[in-house]
Amino acid sequence: MQNKRVIIFYGTRYGSTEGIAEKMAEIIREKDFTVEVVNLKNLPKDKIPDMTQYDGILIGTGIKIGQWTKEVKKFITGRKEELNNFKGHKGFFVSSGYAALPEKYEEVKIDYTKNALAKRGVEVDQYDAFGGLMDLTENSRMGWLEKKILKTVGKQSLGLKSETDSYTDLRDWEQIEKFTLEFVNLILT
Ligand SMILES: Cc1cc2nc3c(=O)[nH]c(=O)nc-3n(C[C@H](O)[C@H](O)[C@H](O)COP(=O)(O)O)c2cc1C
Repeated sequence: MQNKRVIIFYGTRYGSTEGIAEKMAEIIREKDFTVEVVNLKNLPKDKIPDMTQYDGILIGTGIKIGQWTKEVKKFITGRKEELNNFKGHKGFFVSSGYAALPEKYEEVKIDYTKNALAKRGVEVDQYDAFGGLMDLTENSRMGWLEKKILKTVGKQSLGLKSETDSYTDLRDWEQIEKFTLEFVNLILT
């Protein structure tokens, strides 16, 4: 047992970031770390974890019209001091449709992570942008308007199929694994 503890906080609208957070937890647990995964939407006000108990913190969010989820915004703003005083390793990631486009990747990586964090006065040690899950099936958590927006944008620039029921997973699991292993190594060094 490494005796190291990591907590992963995430905000998701349609489940993509949740899947990434769970995969990261699996990878980190394989390294014998203790990992907790917290959906910020379900975090009770009286159960706020004490961050000083952890060696690493990961925070992830989905993107909608250029914006993080409201829970992640609230968390980053509300716990700014604690995050900036945190002695361990901090990572931040987003799941975004545009992150899967090579010509847009660098721009959204900086905009949705580093710049958006700087706007709120928070710095992290590691950040990245991962592609998203475009679930237009009947099981999707998206409403009809969201599906409509995604279909239009998706057809134009993300290479999605035009059929209403398409399911396109643009998350790059190798990229996610590389980021996570780097996170683990930085805690261990
Ligand atoms: C209504 C809507 C708006 C979106 N806006 C953006 C956007 O502005 N930029 C982007 O990169 N991706 C955008 N996306 C794609 C999402 O970021 C992508 O589906 C992501 O995986 C969502 O993560 P989540 O399921 O964890 O919330 C949008 C998707 C929807 C449905």
